[in-house]
Amino acid sequence: MSVDLAIIGGSGLYQFEGMRELERHVLDTPYGKASGAIVIGELDGHRLAFLARHGESHTIPPHRVNYRANLHALHAIGARRVIGVNAVGGIRSDMGPRALVVPDQIIDYTHGRYSSFCDVEGAKVEHVDFSFPYTASLRAALLNAGEASGIALVDGGCYAATQGPRLETNAEVARLRRDGCDLIGMTGMPEAVLARELGCEYACLAMVANWAAGCGDQVEISIDEIFAILRECTAQVPTLIRALLSR
Ligand code: HPA
Repeated sequence: MSVDLAIIGGSGLYQFEGMRELERHVLDTPYGKASGAIVIGELDGHRLAFLARHGESHTIPPHRVNYRANLHALHAIGARRVIGVNAVGGIRSDMGPRALVVPDQIIDYTHGRYSSFCDVEGAKVEHVDFSFPYTASLRAALLNAGEASGIALVDGGCYAATQGPRLETNAEVARLRRDGCDLIGMTGMPEAVLARELGCEYACLAMVANWAAGCGDQVEISIDEIFAILRECTAQVPTLIRALLSR
């Protein structure tokens, strides 16, 4: 069993439009249950796996996602290249609502999440190199696919992984900016490091849904608006992935 590419869909992306469904796998892993069924389908002659990170009806909040089970299950069905699609808030001036970003760095502010496969009695301790948290070749494949399909992607940026599920305060975002963060999401970690521990290639496609707190001219962030903008962003994902697979 193998797949050419796996997609982990975030907020606003619960199924992969245009993929012809072939199989569904509901896997129980040593770490518990994945967020839902892994759907394997055919897209332009390629085998694609899709998993909705928050569940197909968006019932699992970021801090309760079983990231280990998700990655373990994807690995078990043969996925070795994984793209995480993540909704984010933008900090940097070129990362406003609707921007699509392929970040190249991470700062992890999450806490209390199981963030390693070593975190189990008797497991061998491994220290993975995480200097470059995303796989360069998969990032490049995404960026090339953007060029080929005429979808503008911002190349690079530092992803702040926050705990959620609440959004941040203005002061927290000001600190994240001082830390060098460019965009903020709640699900980028520990997904990226777990992929690394399993030896999977991993890249992030971040969809900017809103200006982060204190960054735009809004007084309040509208959740309805976030989801409306995410619908516009996610509509571009199939075109982008088709272009990636065709190259
Ligand atoms: N902060 C954190 N995560 C997010 C945001 C945000 O502003 N928008 C969408 N996901």
